[in-house]
Amino acid sequence: MKPQAKPLSSIHAALDWRYAVREFSPEKLSTQAVETLIDAARKSASSYGLQPYKMILVESDAVRRDLLPHSFGQEKVLDSSHLVVFAADTAIDDQTVDRYVEQYLKVRGGSYEDIAGYASHIKQSLASKSPAGKREWAHQQAYIALGTLLTAAAVLQIDSCPMTGFDRQAYDQVLGLTERGLESSSIVALGHRSARDHSAGLAKVRFDYEDVVIRM
Ligand SMILES: Cc1cc2nc3c(=O)[nH]c(=O)nc-3n(C[C@H](O)[C@H](O)[C@H](O)COP(=O)(O)O)c2cc1C
Repeated sequence: MKPQAKPLSSIHAALDWRYAVREFSPEKLSTQAVETLIDAARKSASSYGLQPYKMILVESDAVRRDLLPHSFGQEKVLDSSHLVVFAADTAIDDQTVDRYVEQYLKVRGGSYEDIAGYASHIKQSLASKSPAGKREWAHQQAYIALGTLLTAAAVLQIDSCPMTGFDRQAYDQVLGLTERGLESSSIVALGHRSARDHSAGLAKVRFDYEDVVIRM
């Protein structure tokens, strides 16, 4: 059995090893490996640090079976070891900032007055966005967390497949996200690649360094 949560020796080795898995093996990840990974994604960067999203670890096979018909035929929603749903906050308002400020003071100490000016600046910045702009902003933050999770998974040698090929509204309904003030953003299947997954041996298709990097 493959060792779990064993870091590869370099970031390039990890990223070259990673690919979007098409077929998972039935082998389960350990709870510890999954928790380590989710906790790594929790440390993702976000705009103003506001973290306007949740990660939903779907452990129930019954729920995953209910999600499958809304997953555009992507069996890995059920066949992978674990499924994570990234969901963006739907209400982006002063409370988004107040919640962060409360946590900030809990973690760093100090008084509200120290951070009041910054909090007011963030509130103004958010208030200036349209409803669609706020929604987009929240999903952007959730996507950064998705990226963090994918990179962390690669380092931990946990296989993954990010997906947006699913019916968001149906997912929201099955998972009861609307009542929680959330809407689904992306999903990630986690586990170990199947030996039958031919995608594992394919060369990575990426634009050349010179085509991607602009120097000024
Ligand atoms: C936001 C996002 C959505 C994706 N949606 C799907 C998906 O629904 N199904 C799937 O099999 N792969 C999906 N992928 C995987 C991409 O197809 C894959 O990352 C890309 O082809 C590059 O290949 P590689 O990751 O194997 O290097 C998605 C990737 C991202 C970042």
